[in-house]
Amino acid sequence: MTPPEGPDTTAVAAARADGAHAGPRHVAVIMDGNGRWAQSRGRPRLFGHHAGARRVREIVEACPELGVKYLTIFAFSTENWKRTQSEVAGLMSLFRRYITKEARTLVENGIRVRFIGDRLRLDRKLQELMDELEAVTAGNDLVHLTVALNYGGRDEVARATRRLAQDVAAGRLDPETVNEETLPRYLDTHVLPDPDLVIRTSGEARISNFLLWQSAYSEYEFVDTLWPDFSAEIFAGIIKGFCGRERRFGAVREQTNV
Ligand code: IPE
Ligand code: IPE
Ligand code: MG
Repeated sequence: MTPPEGPDTTAVAAARADGAHAGPRHVAVIMDGNGRWAQSRGRPRLFGHHAGARRVREIVEACPELGVKYLTIFAFSTENWKRTQSEVAGLMSLFRRYITKEARTLVENGIRVRFIGDRLRLDRKLQELMDELEAVTAGNDLVHLTVALNYGGRDEVARATRRLAQDVAAGRLDPETVNEETLPRYLDTHVLPDPDLVIRTSGEARISNFLLWQSAYSEYEFVDTLWPDFSAEIFAGIIKGFCGRERRFGAVREQTNV
């Protein structure tokens, strides 16, 4: 649910019109800081993960008004298995419950859900719920929500390379034709545009193995807010700021403004 006053979409629309370029079509978010949020309240880390999960709906629902067609969120990394068994089990149970609870709203609100990452390491029940949610939302097109679950950028590139090598070995792909358009066709994100903007909450200024290939030319925004406190209003403010940034993609200003 959006807060009563809602995000400042008028200001965002104005910034889009005046800005150096259109607003972000694809925003990716590293949702960090749940543990610290809970700890600062003297509560267990899982309490923070539950509060963080509740924030997701508000941000997804803000997307259409802000012109964000694709939203990708980092929910669990290939490195997060290093956490205690109880935190990992709690997170997996949260993902199962969240999908079950939110499925109907997502379908009704026109959200198309996809998952990226290596789902084979996840438990069978969770994999089934993920497959089902992808299937029941497949006809939606208002917002494309991608959830990165057991996702690691290096793992994704390694898996893509393995499949590419298998195609070469089987004679389906000529190695001489492999270029920078070929590899992304093997990535989990092959149907998505690259993210225009990557946001990380909680004050950490690192990428933590998120969308390594895809974010080559993304704009980054690091905010101190912990994920459970991240609101639609803060989101709208970041998007407004993005509209004023000049993206050059290696060219010089005159070329990018034509
Ligand atoms: C992000 O919050 C959620 C996951 C990585 C699953 P953290 O759990 O990393 O929270 P901090 O960084 O410890 O505060
Ligand atoms: C990145 O956060 C992963 C997710 C948000 C799911 P981490 O908390 O795992 O990252 P590090 O360990 O601080 O780099
Ligand atoms: Mg963290």
